[in-house]
Amino acid sequence: MSTPATINGKEIFALLAEDLSAIEREFGRDTVAGVEAITEIGEYLRNGGGKRIRPTLLLLSAKVLNYEGRGAVRLGAVVEILHTATLVHDDIIDEAELRRGRPAANTQWGNSKCVLAGDWLYMQAFKIAVQERNFRILDTLIELTQQMVEGELLQIEKLGKLISLDEHFDLIYRKTACLFSVCMRLGAILGNATPEQEENLAQYGRDLGMAFQIVDDVLDLTASESVLGKPVASDLREGKVTMAVIHALERCTSAERQKIETVLRERAFEGVTHSEILEILSRYGSLEAAYARAAQYAELARNAICSFPDSEIKRALLWAPEFVVAREK
Ligand code: IPE
Ligand code: IPE
Ligand code: MG
Ligand code: MG
Repeated sequence: MSTPATINGKEIFALLAEDLSAIEREFGRDTVAGVEAITEIGEYLRNGGGKRIRPTLLLLSAKVLNYEGRGAVRLGAVVEILHTATLVHDDIIDEAELRRGRPAANTQWGNSKCVLAGDWLYMQAFKIAVQERNFRILDTLIELTQQMVEGELLQIEKLGKLISLDEHFDLIYRKTACLFSVCMRLGAILGNATPEQEENLAQYGRDLGMAFQIVDDVLDLTASESVLGKPVASDLREGKVTMAVIHALERCTSAERQKIETVLRERAFEGVTHSEILEILSRYGSLEAAYARAAQYAELARNAICSFPDSEIKRALLWAPEFVVAREK
């Protein structure tokens, strides 16, 4: 019987369901600490849902190379725990009130406990990763963590400023695409990839991550809080200019530029409303431009893995960029 040429999200989930459940169990076991607050915060975040994109990518990368060991489940938990730690810290930095449709951890436990819980989670992730006894894995994770911290720091330095598209892309690489790339690279290392295969898979992750963050930033401007599970238009209120806004700034009148600057300065939609900003963006086709760029990255991601032989897993990897661009949350 011939297999169909495409695969959908449901089928991919079915394909990975067993491993994803094993990752959930591993995550649950790994985030139990001697101090209650840490276990509680870990549990709270794990139960809050989340798309589990990063462990999914890691599994797909390992499986496209026919890896069958237990390491993919362990490292799947590692990347999701690292992601969780970055979110805990990020929500403190951004003074976020909502995450995954629930009060952000910092609003429940306060900043001090959450900083420490985040640190603990980082170290726990490394503790599990060490079990692989593989220095390349550790090097990769250390480099990643430094990139992500540098990304958050750079972002703080650029808050309220009108940055260039290049600066913006550097930032989103560090804060998002780097982790996506590392997920793919870790799968490749487990699967004993050739250097070329490893680079192709890492490139796929990088491009997919760029598309993911560009879309995330557009959704921040256009989606509703109920769908997104976090407050909308928070980037501008946090002083962050993202791709669509940069695109409009490069084209708009000085009066329009002033409106955008007002929001960034006031860190609120007081003098200027959210819909006024959306009007400016739509006048210059800036949301479409951001989507077009995301679609370009999605295409690059698909191209990066074209040399792998056809398989269900490869089809899942080809499907993911489409999902990332079309997603609503
Ligand atoms: C949120 O990532 C942080 C960003 C990089 C934008 P996700 O959108 O993957 O978050 P969850 O895990 O699904 O909640
Ligand atoms: C993403 O940053 C979180 C990290 C990668 C640390 P953002 O601040 O842009 O993401 P959200 O909007 O809070 O999810
Ligand atoms: Mg944030
Ligand atoms: Mg942030």
